[in-house]
Amino acid sequence: MKIIGTGSAVPEFTVTNQMLEQFLDTSDEWITERTGIKTRQLMTTERLDDLGVLAAQRALESAGLKPTDIDMIVLSNVINEYMTPSLSSLIQGRIGATCPCLDVNAACAGFIYALDVAEAMLKNGHERILVMAVEAPTLMVDWKARETCVLFGDGAGAVVVTQGDNLKAMRLTTVSKPKPLFGYLAVSKTPWDQKTEPDYYLKMEGREVFRIAVNSSLKDIKSVLATCQLQPDQVDHYLLHQANLRIMDSIRKTLDVAPEKFPHNIEKRGNTSSASVAILLDEMNREGKIKQGDKLVLSAFGAGFCTAACLIEW
Ligand code: COA
Repeated sequence: MKIIGTGSAVPEFTVTNQMLEQFLDTSDEWITERTGIKTRQLMTTERLDDLGVLAAQRALESAGLKPTDIDMIVLSNVINEYMTPSLSSLIQGRIGATCPCLDVNAACAGFIYALDVAEAMLKNGHERILVMAVEAPTLMVDWKARETCVLFGDGAGAVVVTQGDNLKAMRLTTVSKPKPLFGYLAVSKTPWDQKTEPDYYLKMEGREVFRIAVNSSLKDIKSVLATCQLQPDQVDHYLLHQANLRIMDSIRKTLDVAPEKFPHNIEKRGNTSSASVAILLDEMNREGKIKQGDKLVLSAFGAGFCTAACLIEW
């Protein structure tokens, strides 16, 4: 595949750490030191498909394509306001595309999983695919639970991919381990249902997730580097899932590469689940920070645990 356009969108409303201090037993100092997050954007008047529509339109515009030029949409999402239909099908109609649509859920690693699905579809004859990650993790958390709600923000990222040879390596892994990071949905119960489910907010063992994130991302990154016979410092940009600045720093230090090769926007956006890598990619592209021929490693990890990394030449 080859990426020929990028786009993103976040809600208009920004929530600062100081605003969280008003109703949670937390502080700007704690959040900044432990996570790197200063602000995040949350939906107020928007719905998630509104953000998806904007990101899709911006990606199409940047690729110089019309919505009807797209022959598939693959969209990563964990949760949105609709149980059904799929988020990709909602967005398809609103942007005026006519292609088939598919949602995938690989938690925060989903954007890279969606890229891999798109790569397979391109090999199968598709020509132009809109790959999206559209996420509202703020819908999953208990807004009274300081250990999770301060971490997340909402947002959408999109790329248009076409036939090409710029995806140089891909590694996906899933290790079934739900306990450190899971959230039940509030679903309908039949009159005969006898199960008692725990409450439905996101539950997370932060330290365990931190450890798994660092170890799995390092393994994935080393694997794609080995496939391409590259040393860590031969990569121009490492775009990691924006979950915690300390996770990124720990990975960077182990790889022994310069801080400027690990761009981040977590301080502004918080953790936008699988949209984080896609939004960062679009922001860097629009700021002209990615040059033709640059080597990019994308790496993300999340519930499952699902993890993924890929190496792309721009
Ligand atoms: N404000 C203030 N104090 C808080 C807090 C908050 N928002 N959240 C938790 N604390 C407290 C805890 O209650 C605990 O208090 P105690 O020592 O009195 O028990 C203390 O801070 C330390 O908590 P701990 O969970 O050990 O902190 P940490 O350094 O591990 O940081 C995370 C917590 C969640 C920031 C960190 O573990 C993390 O980022 N983990 C990975 C999360 C992640 O990536 N999730 C998404 C994966 S897709």
